[in-house]
Amino acid sequence: HIPVIRSLAQLRRWRRMVRDQGLEVGVVPTMGALHQGHLDLVKASLSKHPFTVMTLFVNPMQFAPTEDLAAYPRTLERDLDLLRTLLPVHSGSSGSGMLRGLGVSENDSFRPAPVTEETEPPVIPRPVKGAKSKARDEGTLLPPILPEEEVPKGLGNLVVFAPGPETMYPLKGDLQDLSKKRGVEVDVKGWGDVMEGASRPQFFKGVATVCTKLFNAVEPDHAYFGQKDIQQALLLKIMLTDLLLAHPLPENLHILPTTRDPHDHLALSSRNAYLSAPERDIAPILHRALSAAQLLFSSISTDSAEISGEEMISAATQVILDEQQRILDSGSPVELRMDYIEVFDRHTFEPVRGRLELGREVVVAGAAWVGKTRLIDNLLLGWG
Ligand code: PAJ
Repeated sequence: HIPVIRSLAQLRRWRRMVRDQGLEVGVVPTMGALHQGHLDLVKASLSKHPFTVMTLFVNPMQFAPTEDLAAYPRTLERDLDLLRTLLPVHSGSSGSGMLRGLGVSENDSFRPAPVTEETEPPVIPRPVKGAKSKARDEGTLLPPILPEEEVPKGLGNLVVFAPGPETMYPLKGDLQDLSKKRGVEVDVKGWGDVMEGASRPQFFKGVATVCTKLFNAVEPDHAYFGQKDIQQALLLKIMLTDLLLAHPLPENLHILPTTRDPHDHLALSSRNAYLSAPERDIAPILHRALSAAQLLFSSISTDSAEISGEEMISAATQVILDEQQRILDSGSPVELRMDYIEVFDRHTFEPVRGRLELGREVVVAGAAWVGKTRLIDNLLLGWG
């Protein structure tokens, strides 16, 4: 049973009650179309906090008019099925103990919220037998709360916050054309206009604005983001710092490693669903290109070799060029086009040029078009 909260009023009521219990909340923002990468983030949060909110909102503001907003996969039922696989199954009498840990009573009483906007709160769970629930009013959106020491580690409660666009963009007129948005826009200058932001000018304003809203709505103690979108995660940390935001504190924004296909290391992405079979076959080339740059970088420490950012970029670019030639020679109809390969400084996002000194922490990142699908990937080099 994974409650789906649609309205801000319900979310805030739920959040207030969780706060009253003094329990921590982790948030995992997503646009749905879940894959193992998203699930790994949710699992990490579930294992650390008694409550996890996975937000699911396909944010129109971060899509350019030419991009795939309409086509972006929306698969709520499937997403909920996948999320359920993370929770312990009810297996007769022996399962009930685990369910109690999840805040779900044996009588199946924790019902998902109704899937309508701004409705009355759903019927709520009765307190678990024997649990000292401090929930004051029954009939609110709060699972029965166990005393913290009785919440088994790794078995946090999960709720999904899936607001509609009217909830996330309440100013009238915004939704007609978000590029003409009036009102507040969060622009992380200097970090949002390079790299991915250079290729997609409105993108990080959309991400920073919606994440500010989601953080304000959920008021999480911790947030989980994927390294797959490293610039997004680092930029959001900077945003939290510069705006003095406390939910979460910048140090509580956690960046988890990219989940990859175990065979060919393709970074999992909701957009991989767009790839045809022959496109899927060549998609891992981006990771191979970045690995070539990584190999050069690693020679800095081993051979005290002199390596520059430019050399790393050209090593990676060459891998893409070779693959383009191979595709041409084989007569395959697949199109591969490089968008950019860049080496940038972890802290400043400045492109790294000239000789790299030992101890430098950088990111080598790239984007490539495979047919009509834009793929991104990155590797962290010299970190920790
Ligand atoms: P989305 O692309 O759905 O990604 C949600 C989260 O999952 C992000 O933190 C992303 O980095 C992470 N993620 C995606 N693929 C991953 C992988 N292979 N391994 C590990 N983590 C992965 O990113 C967004 O949504 C949006 O921009 C959002 C932050 C929700 C704002 O709208």
